[in-house]
Amino acid sequence: MEVIIQPDAASASRLVARLIARDIRRSTHFVLGLATGRTMESVYAELARLYRDEGLRFKHCHSFNLDEYVGLAANDPCSYRHFMSEHLFSKIDIPITNTHVPNGLATDLVQEAIAYEKAIEKSGGIDLQLLGIGRSGHIGFNEPLSAFRSRTRDKALTPVTIAQNKPLFPSGRAMPVRGITMGIGTILDSRRCILLATGSEKAAILSQAIEGPLTSMISASALQLHPRCVVVTDEAAASQLTGHEYYRWVFANEPEWAEYR
Ligand code: GLP
Repeated sequence: MEVIIQPDAASASRLVARLIARDIRRSTHFVLGLATGRTMESVYAELARLYRDEGLRFKHCHSFNLDEYVGLAANDPCSYRHFMSEHLFSKIDIPITNTHVPNGLATDLVQEAIAYEKAIEKSGGIDLQLLGIGRSGHIGFNEPLSAFRSRTRDKALTPVTIAQNKPLFPSGRAMPVRGITMGIGTILDSRRCILLATGSEKAAILSQAIEGPLTSMISASALQLHPRCVVVTDEAAASQLTGHEYYRWVFANEPEWAEYR
C-alpha cells in the first residue's frame, strides 16, 4: 500500500482522475470498478473534463459499480445508477451497455449477485477499482463483520451508514436499509485499487483502516492485503496518520510518482 497526501480535496480528486486516465489511455480494453458518494463527485467531474478538453476516451471501457440500494429502481433519483448517469456516464463516451450497476430491484438478490460476479469474470476482471470509505469503515456496502473473502451479496446497512447517507434522500423519504454490494473478496481480486478519502470526518476511520490491525470490524483494513493499493487523501483526512514522513518521502522520490508531483 502507498499513501499519497495532497494539500486539499480538489488536488486529491484531480490526482485520482489522472491515475485513472493514465491506465485508460494505456489500454485497449479496460475494466473500471466505480464508487459512489460525495467524495467521488469531483473525481468524475475531472474525468468528464479530461474527456471534453484532453481527448480521454472511454469507448473501450467497461464499468462495474460497487453497490446499489436494495429497493431502488435504476431511474430513482436516489439510486447509485442515477448518480453514475448524472455525474459520469452522461458526460463521457462509455457505451451505456458496457456499464454495470447491481439491480436493486432484482426479485432474486442471490441470483443477481451470482450474475454480477459472472459478468465481472466474463469482462476479464476489474483492472482498477475506485473506492471511497464510509464512516463505518465500509468499502462498497461491506459493513462491519463482512468476511474478507465475501463475494457480491445483499447486506444490512449499519445505523452509522444510514445516518451518513440519509441527507442524500429528500426529507420525509424513507432510506433503504439494505444494499447489494461487491464483496471484499471481489474487491481484493481487482488488479489495482485506489481509495480516496477526504475531509476531517474521515481522519479517524482512515487511520484505523490503513495503520491499524486487520479486522473485519473495519472492512477497509482488508485493503492492507491488496498487492497494488494506493490511498489518496487530503491533509484533513490524513491528520491522524502516524507515517506522514515516510509517505511523503515515497511520493517525492519514487520514480512512479514523478509525473504527478
Ligand atoms: C456510500 C457508498 C460507499 C462510499 C461511501 C462514502 O456509503 N456505498 O461506497 O464509500 O458512500 O460516501 P461519501 O463519499 O459521501 O463520504
